[in-house]
Amino acid sequence: MLRSSCLLVSCIILLVWTLPASSQQQLSDSEIEQRVNALLQQMTLEEKAGQLNQMPDKNAKTMEMIKQGKVGSLLGVLGVKEVNEAQHAAVDGSRLKIPLIFGYDVIHGYRTIFPAPLASAGSFDPQLIEQSERVAAKEATASGVKWTFAPMVDIARDPRWGRIVEGAGEDPYLGSVVAMARVRGFQGSNMADPQSVVASAKHFVGYGAVEGGRDYNTAEMSEQLLREVYLPPFRAAVDAGVGTLMSAFNDLNGIPASANHHTLTDILHGEWKFNGFVVSDYDSVHELIPHGTAADDSQASLEALTAGVDMDMADSDYVRYVPELVKSGKLPESVVDEAVRRVLRVKFKAGLFEHPYADPNREKTDILTPESLQTERKMAQESMVLLQNNHDLLPLKKDQTIAVIGPLADDKASQLGAWAGNGQAKDAVTPLEGIAAKLGKGHVLYAKGVDIQPFERGLAAGVAAPAPPSATGVAGVEASNKPASIEDAVSAAKKADTVILFVGELAGMTGEASSRASLDLPGDQMKLIQAVLATKKPTVLVLESGRPQNISWAPEHIPAIIQAWYLGVQSGNAIADVLFGDASPSGRLPLSWPRAVGQIPVYYNHKATGRPSAPDRWHTGYLDLSSEPLYPFGYGLTYTKFKYGSLKANSTISKDGTVHVSAEIENTGKREGTEVVQLYVHDRVAPTSRPVRELKGFERITLAPGEHKTVNFTVRANDLGSYDPEMHWIVPLGTYDVWVAPDSASGVAGTFEVQ
Ligand code: BGC
Repeated sequence: MLRSSCLLVSCIILLVWTLPASSQQQLSDSEIEQRVNALLQQMTLEEKAGQLNQMPDKNAKTMEMIKQGKVGSLLGVLGVKEVNEAQHAAVDGSRLKIPLIFGYDVIHGYRTIFPAPLASAGSFDPQLIEQSERVAAKEATASGVKWTFAPMVDIARDPRWGRIVEGAGEDPYLGSVVAMARVRGFQGSNMADPQSVVASAKHFVGYGAVEGGRDYNTAEMSEQLLREVYLPPFRAAVDAGVGTLMSAFNDLNGIPASANHHTLTDILHGEWKFNGFVVSDYDSVHELIPHGTAADDSQASLEALTAGVDMDMADSDYVRYVPELVKSGKLPESVVDEAVRRVLRVKFKAGLFEHPYADPNREKTDILTPESLQTERKMAQESMVLLQNNHDLLPLKKDQTIAVIGPLADDKASQLGAWAGNGQAKDAVTPLEGIAAKLGKGHVLYAKGVDIQPFERGLAAGVAAPAPPSATGVAGVEASNKPASIEDAVSAAKKADTVILFVGELAGMTGEASSRASLDLPGDQMKLIQAVLATKKPTVLVLESGRPQNISWAPEHIPAIIQAWYLGVQSGNAIADVLFGDASPSGRLPLSWPRAVGQIPVYYNHKATGRPSAPDRWHTGYLDLSSEPLYPFGYGLTYTKFKYGSLKANSTISKDGTVHVSAEIENTGKREGTEVVQLYVHDRVAPTSRPVRELKGFERITLAPGEHKTVNFTVRANDLGSYDPEMHWIVPLGTYDVWVAPDSASGVAGTFEVQ
């Protein structure tokens, strides 16, 4: 029996290996199922558990485990040599020769670091986002990575949460469009393409709703909120063919997300028919113990695997406990088999059986190419949001002396942002470098002004301390070896025609384990800003941060404000392009910008309440502050002006019909500009209360001065629906409000009926 099984396996392997090396053909689904099942039949219980085990590094012990068939995946192993060495151990050294899949966090680029995901989401440009992820996939695969732990599609309404920077912001529609674009970019049309990576939508689910914005915290929400706000981007990723999902760290309504059968099995496989696999987050199987739903690692493994977590990241629980759980009768082997099937299916789809090894030739040619840098520069230009531009201060003239001031002006690491893949600070162009390159020698003065000191807890988490004072490397820029001082900043400002201030957060203050209780600019940056503003020089404020900062004071005191987030390796060039008019700002806010921490959560798609917001005290609101955000979701200015008019919508549609909405947009300014035209809808009467507005479409249009365009939107009535109290999707009949708008708080309005 054993001999004939081995023979069958050898035949399969031989068959697979005789395919031409260049073949990128994806196997058909039925071929994959046959091969998966044939392989599964040959596997011992230990080998099955091995496929469900992802180890966090490559060392002598893991190499031995790989040969014993006890590892299905490695995390964080980079470089063709390392990857191929480990792959040899699996393919040549293990009994069943099942290839490993190499995973890594390619969150916004591998080596060519792109804008932080929150920033690029604000471009509202899914094509360019997809193109960026293609670059990331090409670079990652050149280095042997075949699986990225991205896109992060967690909806987040709380900027205190440091991981808000990794996602697409607060809106489920934008989040879904962006999720699909990223999945398409990473996976291409075929996961088996040597330049494609398998994507992983994370963190499933509710992680963005952690209470108080504290990372890893509990999330409590109604089933309706879960289904209408937090699940849609995951559903979109699944519909786009995402290969894997990652289960989250948080507790969701009393059941940890990594042991949540309702979300991981009932919804994901039952309702959505997902047939890829779910990997746990780092140690999140083991963490069921501190969560308090498992007494030990064996019980944690049982809970997680039964709930639907197929692969266990980092804590080795499955490989240690699954065989004995099956032998003791606690865990049906069929559950293990199903998980193994899902893992093998993805490995087949990814072409790993045909092409297990990384190509040694691409590492030198495919990384940081001029084309990749060009795509990144464009993505960075499109990600910036112009928040204010009084008296058209921007774009700036090039023939003037500029004082570049601030702790982030020449900080390379912070241009990259958190989770910067295999990015290297040395690759980053800082704003100071970008501006100096554009204006030429002698036009730029520089002063750091102040250092940003990492928070004490952040230091322990590895946030880099500020670099020691040093001369800037920018030729022709007046440099100083003295410690950063506000006096130097003031003196540079006085000598300049215009000041550009670069303030914000160090990249390490955002991302995982980087929640903040305050959104104030850290350290002495406000003192620096006040001292510089006292010089009365025209000043532009450029914010580099992973979340909105508290700038409620700024609109009154600073004529021009740009939110630049973290823009990646071409950051400084892209910022200079926009500041000096070689590119126009076209990004929009993917979230509502709070006036104060006390307003959080503040998001545009809130409910009306029984006493909708109004100035008097007996309506929802605060006594001491407006409940409106400082800037609404979708907001962003351009260097020109757009007029919205002539909204048209078909007056009546049926439940299975389609609504066509159009509006006339005109560039009434003096420069060409790109507008993000947004479509919002509100269902007036439904069985459950509906958000005051919901984004249902958008389009980027570029118009010359005086040019106008009719922008058309088509929405299926079904996409206007909502869940009834029994959680059935329905399309309520009646009147719907509709807006075509430059942001979530304005626009031209109309109505239509669903009958
Ligand atoms: C993060 C994940 C990440 C994983 C692997 C975890 O700490 O939550 O987002 O993919 O580490 O690096």
